[in-house]
Amino acid sequence: MTITIKNEAEIAGMRIAGRLASEVLDLLTPHVKAGVTTEAIDKIAHDHIVHEQGGVPAPLNYAPPGYTPYPKSICTSINHQVCHGIPNDRPLKNGDIVNIDVTVIKDGWHGDTSRMFIVGEGSIAARRLVQITYDAMWKGIVKVRPGVRLGDIGSAIQVFTEGNGFSVVREFCGHGIGARFHEDPQVLHYGKAGTLDELKAGMTFTIEPMINAGKRDIREAGDGWTIVTRDRSLSAQWEHTVLVTETGYEVMTLSAGSPPPPAFVAA
Ligand code: MF3
Ligand code: CO
Ligand code: CO
Repeated sequence: MTITIKNEAEIAGMRIAGRLASEVLDLLTPHVKAGVTTEAIDKIAHDHIVHEQGGVPAPLNYAPPGYTPYPKSICTSINHQVCHGIPNDRPLKNGDIVNIDVTVIKDGWHGDTSRMFIVGEGSIAARRLVQITYDAMWKGIVKVRPGVRLGDIGSAIQVFTEGNGFSVVREFCGHGIGARFHEDPQVLHYGKAGTLDELKAGMTFTIEPMINAGKRDIREAGDGWTIVTRDRSLSAQWEHTVLVTETGYEVMTLSAGSPPPPAFVAA
């Protein structure tokens, strides 16, 4: 396996793609409300990426080996859907929790980020899952610096998540990203500290934990893409694309509407 190291020019391209992806989420935020369909949200995202940003929505027609081409421009995963939910004509309803995952290609570079949205107020249990999952992503991000190993990231996420009584999905992981959507390395959200590849400055990858309120087991829903929890418990996910810098990390998928980091993240 080869992990690409990005040079300054490539990093500059990644910064733009990352910001654009995050700005799509900013744009979508006021539209995520009861009565709106995920298909309508997909169209807003698609039109903005193509016509305003001059970019390409990476998911559209994306077809890894063994998959049918993905039919939409974003992923929308609701409630017990873990990831890769396909936008459809069912209106959102109060209490739904929704992950929207946006990947923009701009000038050949990919930016990949997702956020959770709660439609209306949401139950206490749903809000706690969304918050713990956000903090879990950041527990991984703050580990990032040269010399640290991928297992340190996975372990930090797993220990925090399980300590809060939730479970980490094993079958899907973060990934290297750059000129390709999914590159080496795999960034597992569980594991053993001190194991796996050592991080080096110039690596870019995503951290995108999928956290279930119930058991960690998942299955495919039958449409070839949508992943759901086997026990139908709620699932949440957040995603950022990060760069390993000489001294630590840079989050590449930030914009004006990004939620602030948790209090445990040093300024
Ligand atoms: N954006 C997802 C990720 O974080 C991948 C979605 S692939 C798709 O890696 F085809 F479903 F869009
Ligand atoms: Co990703
Ligand atoms: Co993504």
